[in-house]
Amino acid sequence: MTTTRLTGKTARFTGRTALVTGAGSGIGRGIALAFGAEGANVVVAGRRREPLDETVALIEAGGGKALAVSADVSKAVDAHALVRAAVDRYGSLDVAVNNAGVFRGGQPLADLTEEDWRTQLDINVTGVFLALQAEIRHMRAQPSGGAIVNVASTFGVHTSSPGAAAYAASKAAVTVLSKGAAVDHIREGVRINVVSPGPTDTPMSLRPGETPAERAERAKAGLPLGRISATAEVAAAVLYLASDDAGSVVGTDLVVDSGATA
Ligand SMILES: NC(=O)c1ccc[n+]([C@@H]2O[C@H](COP(=O)([O-])OP(=O)(O)OC[C@H]3O[C@@H](n4cnc5c(N)ncnc54)[C@H](OP(=O)(O)O)[C@@H]3O)[C@@H](O)[C@H]2O)c1
Repeated sequence: MTTTRLTGKTARFTGRTALVTGAGSGIGRGIALAFGAEGANVVVAGRRREPLDETVALIEAGGGKALAVSADVSKAVDAHALVRAAVDRYGSLDVAVNNAGVFRGGQPLADLTEEDWRTQLDINVTGVFLALQAEIRHMRAQPSGGAIVNVASTFGVHTSSPGAAAYAASKAAVTVLSKGAAVDHIREGVRINVVSPGPTDTPMSLRPGETPAERAERAKAGLPLGRISATAEVAAAVLYLASDDAGSVVGTDLVVDSGATA
């Protein structure tokens, strides 16, 4: 386990509460650690408890504060309970990152099961919709408002690999939903944006049966940058959009993809 010690050098989120879904692994964990390192009270959510506890331990080892909450974002009751848990513990909800998502596919669309289609829509799209509603209803009622960043994917615009049509459709929906919500709620003090990662250093970017070394070779040949993104690089984009530095950035989709869609 790696840790990041809180230095206070660039603590843009001191005293603010940041909620991150899907924070027990991968990109979500990277985002949660980055918020912890910049002084936020971090609420980490996901379905499985154990990986969330590990994320909390990593944040605390770096000098930060964090709370783990088990929640299934595809259930409205969980989305509302999550926001309530954050506010009960820390007194406000200032930032939310809706990152939880799943990929089900690998086969051509005609061979995808209806269950896999529905699972991706339920978690990737309905999950973001439900989280947005719970978060916005709280944020617009507080004088300081809030900032929300949703995690989509470059697949939502450029579906460059076979076997990903349904996943791509779900991610396109995340981007469009976010832009519409951004326009609806910016005058209420809630600023909403999107980060679209390209291939990032988590198991999700491995092709079936592929090793990380084989993925690195593929990236060297196929991506303009010659490598995939680190989770910390995606996190840096999320923290920028969530910060006051991005005060006039509304409804944008910030792509972090090693040049894949340039
Ligand atoms: N890795 C990439 O190359 C890449 C590229 C573009 C976009 N993305 C997007 O980035 C996000 C994070 O991906 P990742 O690569 O970090 O994947 P990951 O390691 O599989 O993380 C996904 C997280 O979401 C949580 N999750 C899944 N379903 C959930 C639900 N119903 N309720 C609450 N939490 C749920 C999972 O925890 P539990 O199973 O415990 O719930 C897991 O911690 C996803 O939205 C993904 O689509 C990834």
